[in-house]
Amino acid sequence: MSRIHEALKKAEQERATSQGGPATQPNLATAAAPESPLLPDESSRAVPPAVPVGMQSNSAVPPFASPFNFDALLARSAQLQWEPDAKTMLFFDKGEAARGAEQFRTLRSRLYHLREKMTLKKILVTSALPKEGKSFTAANLAQVLVRQHGRRVLLIDGDLRAPSLHLMLGTTFSPGLADYLQGESDEFSIIQRGPMENLFFIPSGRQIANSAELVANGRLKLLLQRIEPVFDWIILDSPPAVPVSDASLLAKACDGVLIVVRSNATPFEMARRAKQEFPDQALVGVVLNGADGEFAAYARYYYDPYLKKEPKA
Ligand SMILES: Nc1ncnc2c1ncn2[C@@H]1O[C@H](COP(=O)(O)OP(=O)(O)OP(=O)(O)O)[C@@H](O)[C@H]1O
Ligand SMILES: [Mg+2]
Repeated sequence: MSRIHEALKKAEQERATSQGGPATQPNLATAAAPESPLLPDESSRAVPPAVPVGMQSNSAVPPFASPFNFDALLARSAQLQWEPDAKTMLFFDKGEAARGAEQFRTLRSRLYHLREKMTLKKILVTSALPKEGKSFTAANLAQVLVRQHGRRVLLIDGDLRAPSLHLMLGTTFSPGLADYLQGESDEFSIIQRGPMENLFFIPSGRQIANSAELVANGRLKLLLQRIEPVFDWIILDSPPAVPVSDASLLAKACDGVLIVVRSNATPFEMARRAKQEFPDQALVGVVLNGADGEFAAYARYYYDPYLKKEPKA
């Protein structure tokens, strides 16, 4: 049984024995690690089409003449006045003292350990079903990563169906990813920044009907190839993996996938089905969201091999 499978099974057992309802306090534990180094998807090397599938041939294609570097990003990205939701965005107001912050620091350390063994910069955060904490995890993971001095982090709302990161961060949703994927915006105009230094955000963009087609049209890989040298981490939020295909399509442009399992809520069968949506080597871990303190030991059990070395971070 793989460690990820064991982790999911453990979460299911906890759910079966627990008497309580879903947790309301942020409390995360992580589990599982890949058995083998992650290999980049071969298709990521394919040259994406210049014009997205389904677009008119005379549609605007973003100009790529200008170089993408950090100075250009600072000069051309919009600096906005975000108003983050203090209840769920753990690192804006209370910083390191917020409840749940420690679990995110642990998750960060584990990702750095994994990064010693594999290419790991672009991480997709997903889960089986709605409301399990994907956006909460993606947003707080991005924040805890950027709190380390000099680290630049890009958070992307890849949930084009029910975007929520802009609400959590208290900012605008457009222009954003959907506009870029349709060839209507360039990368500078979709990336925004707020009050947290070195944290950048691409919102979902204006709502569209054909999100799976757009995500698969090749322009996401083009975008990430172009901008990733500027960032230390890129965190993508996604729709739930079981009902729709967007998450597995988004994962093809990423190095690894984190699956969020909501304690006392996610049925084991659903978590298993979510896992099946991704190649084994892409799965970098399970985030147990809403777990109580006893899950700390559980997390350590799965990560012991990686705790022997100090993190780079
Ligand atoms: N550990 C937690 N502690 C407190 N609030 C949480 C926690 N996890 C999630 N929430 C809150 O629960 C709600 C649902 O979480 P979230 O939006 O992250 O789920 P989701 O999986 O992204 O949902 P969707 O599939 O609809 O995008 C949000 O209001 C979020 O802030
Ligand atoms: Mg969400």
